[in-house]
Amino acid sequence: MCIPEKIEKILFTEEQIKEKVALLGGELTKEYGGKNPLFVCILKGAVVFFSDLIRAVKCPLEVGFFRTSSYVGTDSSGGVNADEREIPDIEGRDVVIVEDIIDTARTLSKVKEMFLRHDPRSLRIVCLLDKPSRREVENFTADNSCFEIEDLFVVGYGLDCDQQFRNLPYIGVYKA
Ligand code: IMP
Repeated sequence: MCIPEKIEKILFTEEQIKEKVALLGGELTKEYGGKNPLFVCILKGAVVFFSDLIRAVKCPLEVGFFRTSSYVGTDSSGGVNADEREIPDIEGRDVVIVEDIIDTARTLSKVKEMFLRHDPRSLRIVCLLDKPSRREVENFTADNSCFEIEDLFVVGYGLDCDQQFRNLPYIGVYKA
């Protein structure tokens, strides 16, 4: 396998990710059977995780998309860009928000607040990665997260640095 020069090391391999996604898919299948949930992908970082996860959920579901952005290079810009008018129709629905990573939690806490204003029947947040040591919104957690990591900047499997590396099949530590 050819590893780009900017990747310091592989943190999670394709196989490790596959295993976690299958486990989570199984859990969500049990939880949402018969409920026709709406899985909402937070663009763009969650797109690869989302496409694998929905195929690991073996019950009928629908999909939606919502776009946010906050990072410039490897630094959080501080602000969160998200347009509430672009939230899919979630009123009365069982909604599962699918995100790539929780870092400061500014993004997801804002997204959660926005979504709750639209009266879903239930709201669950699942994420691929969690960096608890970077948290700025106190006590904010996902309902499910696949991997907890230290304060590292990671790319691959949908995560980027300036739009690059999203297509790596593994999650790697970025060499700044
Ligand atoms: P938060 O608002 O600080 O929790 O940041 C969430 C967003 O920042 C995520 O959706 C990612 O797009 C981006 N982000 C945070 N950490 C990383 C990282 O290590 N690699 C790539 N993107 C990251």
